[in-house]
Amino acid sequence: MRWTLGTAWRRLLTFCPASGSLAADSSVYHDAETGFTFSQFAAAYVLTSTVTFRLALPSPAPTNASYDAVLQVVAPISLTGWVGLAWGGTMLNNPLTVFWENNNTPVISTRFATTRSLPPVYSGATLQVFKTGTHVNSTHWQFTAKCTGCTAFTSSSGSKTVLNPTGVNRLAFAYGSAKPSTPSSSSSSFGVHDVYAYWNHDFSAAGNTAFSSLVAKNLGTAVLSGPKYSH
Ligand code: HEM
Repeated sequence: MRWTLGTAWRRLLTFCPASGSLAADSSVYHDAETGFTFSQFAAAYVLTSTVTFRLALPSPAPTNASYDAVLQVVAPISLTGWVGLAWGGTMLNNPLTVFWENNNTPVISTRFATTRSLPPVYSGATLQVFKTGTHVNSTHWQFTAKCTGCTAFTSSSGSKTVLNPTGVNRLAFAYGSAKPSTPSSSSSSFGVHDVYAYWNHDFSAAGNTAFSSLVAKNLGTAVLSGPKYSH
């Protein structure tokens, strides 16, 4: 029954408007806690709940070279499986930022898939979790992290893609309801998604002229796998 619902919902979610229409699905969010201006999208991973993806970028950002991006994710505490962000808007040949909650700690893993099977760990992108903007309360868990290497990638044919920092980019997410098999480890294996979907994210609304100083201010003690949340 659960699988039937999941499949129907996935079909609904994967409906995409005709190509060419790149109207943004995201909105602007100013985060008073970290000081970043984000462009955000709330992705419905089940019928009644969303996980919010927020992106903050340097402004100006280079147009033909990789640039750092700050990713802030807000997820309901009822979300106990895994979620992944596909920076290139597809499962294959782009950095996948996969994350889940374990013992009040965000576990974040960078992956890269060349086949539609469990994506292996990817060393071409690194994430630094910020001390500020990473916490849990009675309803949601949240992390804020800087990614180096998420905004540019090379496909299997060797062609390079750089996400347009001043335009709209198509992103994708995936959600698996089952907990990863070794939830404390960022290299854990996990099962296939129940849901995936796409949206158009307006990077031009995510620019921060004070990007570097905000990164330095929010970084705190840098840890790769995520700090313990404070309650
Ligand atoms: C164990 C891990 C995974 C397996 C076995 C897997 C398998 C598959 C398969 C078989 C498909 C084809 C469509 C279908 O029948 O559902 C698919 C599509 C897709 N997957 Fe995965 N997947 C995994 C992880 C991920 C992750 C981590 C992401 C994103 C972060 C992701 C994003 C997508 C997307 C967006 C599609 C739609 C087709 C596309 O746009 O490329 N998958 N996956």
